Amino acid sequence: MPGQSLCSDTGANMASDVVGLGKHSTCRCRFGSKHSLSNTVDSPGCTMPSPKSSTSPTKRPRMQVHVQNHTMNGHSEIMAGSNNNVGEVLKVMVTGGAGYLGTTIVPMLLNRGHQVKIYDRLSWGVQSILPIVGSPNLTVVRGDIRDKDKLAREMQDCNAVIHLAAIVGYPACEKDPEEARQINEEGTANIVNNLRPDQRLIYASTGSCYGAVNGTCTEETPISPLTLYGSTKAKGEELTRSVGGVGLRLATVFGISPRLRLDLLINDLTHKAVTVKHFDLYQGSFRRTFLHVKDAARAFLIAIDNYKTMSGQAYNVGHESMNMTKRDVADTIQDLVPECKITTSNSGEDKDKRDYEVSYAKLRELGFKPTVSVQDGVKELLKVVPHMTENEVRIARNV
Ligand SMILES: NC(=O)c1ccc[n+]([C@@H]2O[C@H](COP(=O)([O-])OP(=O)(O)OC[C@H]3O[C@@H](n4cnc5c(N)ncnc54)[C@H](O)[C@@H]3O)[C@@H](O)[C@H]2O)c1
Repeated sequence: MPGQSLCSDTGANMASDVVGLGKHSTCRCRFGSKHSLSNTVDSPGCTMPSPKSSTSPTKRPRMQVHVQNHTMNGHSEIMAGSNNNVGEVLKVMVTGGAGYLGTTIVPMLLNRGHQVKIYDRLSWGVQSILPIVGSPNLTVVRGDIRDKDKLAREMQDCNAVIHLAAIVGYPACEKDPEEARQINEEGTANIVNNLRPDQRLIYASTGSCYGAVNGTCTEETPISPLTLYGSTKAKGEELTRSVGGVGLRLATVFGISPRLRLDLLINDLTHKAVTVKHFDLYQGSFRRTFLHVKDAARAFLIAIDNYKTMSGQAYNVGHESMNMTKRDVADTIQDLVPECKITTSNSGEDKDKRDYEVSYAKLRELGFKPTVSVQDGVKELLKVVPHMTENEVRIARNV
């Protein structure tokens, strides 16, 4: 319906970066209209200014907030705590491992030979983990991070925890604010309180912590979350870093994962482009930042490998070339879906008021290079999104 007014990004958090490294990838960013992403991550033919490097924040000493379990319960292979040990085999607990991000991270960990324990309340069912349950190195535990005793038991034999479990996105948090606070803050405190000094903790933080910021956000920019989601995630990051954990502040993620989410800006707009076809975009000039789900997953592997270096710190995860306005994203989608028309409207307001641009220099120094462009991510979405059933669409939204 031409002119139908729709909220453009119902999705809450997420962002993504990505520099398409593919041969003929192009992207649009706020520094110019279309530019090639063909060669390197750092200078993808983009006329944008060089990213500024950020100074590293002072590393905090590793300290326990409160430790309940000191015994290792029979496992002795690896003392993971403070080493940069690329290539060692770990037992990794992934909370929220059955979710959008988790179902991309877990197979990567298994492929590297790690043992993986998914600890998840399985809010979205088991469908997303069916392709990996055959792995002898995978254990699945249905559990809630608010269940302190169970969590403590299950964490004991692990060398590392990748903590993803959360109520994700501002609409889902607003639906039940108390549950969001309990899970995102107290649930994270439970993990932090159980963590031994020899265990690594890597936390999925978010660019939503920044809110609306003039200029470019580095890891030292004071955080100013605009939503309950952003503030509860910021609290979780603070708790994580207080015990030497790593906070990965992800850009808004996009792309296909075994647990698909359509309530993320790029995925949502792509879905609307093929279903509603004509719709309004509010606040198209707002700046956001994006990252393909596979590249987001790779950042967690980098954090496992470089734990000693990264311990106690926050890292923005993305790429400057993926700092785009919402209008840039809409134009990229329109190019790929010619029958859709996304008009910019000044008559409505998007509830998600994030407007910020991010520097990714700090993680880039550790060798992080995104590999999938927005354009390629939309292309892969277009292979399945038009064919999703109503039920598949329903469970692909967090509210
Ligand atoms: N997707 C993004 O763009 C993005 C961006 C920045 C940060 N993050 C963060 O990444 C993490 C994963 O997000 P996602 O996109 O995969 O979301 P998701 O909703 O697909 O996954 C969350 C998972 O956590 C589980 N879970 C929820 N509450 C739980 C509880 N109390 N105990 C145990 N498990 C519980 C759910 O069952 C689900 O499998 C979140 O912490 C989110 O804040 C995501």
